[in-house]
Amino acid sequence: MPKRILLLLLSGMAIVNAQESGKKAPPRKPKAEAVNYYRDIEPILTANCVSCHQAAMAAGGLRVDAPENVLQGGASGPAVIPGKAQRSLLYTRLTDTTAKRMPPASTLTEEQLALIRAWINLGAKIEPAPKR
Ligand code: HEC
Repeated sequence: MPKRILLLLLSGMAIVNAQESGKKAPPRKPKAEAVNYYRDIEPILTANCVSCHQAAMAAGGLRVDAPENVLQGGASGPAVIPGKAQRSLLYTRLTDTTAKRMPPASTLTEEQLALIRAWINLGAKIEPAPKR
């Protein structure tokens, strides 16, 4: 068999293989009910953002110590555009590659980023507050 045809066959098989393994991979996007503000988002904000974004120190005019403050946004306007994570400062500032990245001294994990992205893309819903 000519070498070129053999190569074509092999690369074709590689593509088919990649597609098959793609099917088996777990879905990357959490489902709607898989993201809950109080369970998934609030703990991330509390641990990484509230120190600089609450009543006593609302850096950039933004508070994230209560959901209504998160939705209200800061000096630049709404930080969350429901359905559009890529246009929401609350998400884009987390993936910013410049000194604007939040939080300033660390980086959120890929899992945390995925949760915030999913929460915004699924409409930035706030479920009724759990009893505490
Ligand atoms: C160490 C303090 C500090 C922490 C922690 C921090 N920020 Fe900030 N943040 C700032 C400061 C200071 C500004 C204002 C200057 C600027 O925009 O960069 C700001 C601005 C912002 C803005 C822009 C607000 C606006 O309307 O202009 C967003 C959005 C934001 N932060 C999100 C976050 C998120 C989300 C976290 C947690 C993942 C976080 N920040 C953690 C200090 C902090």
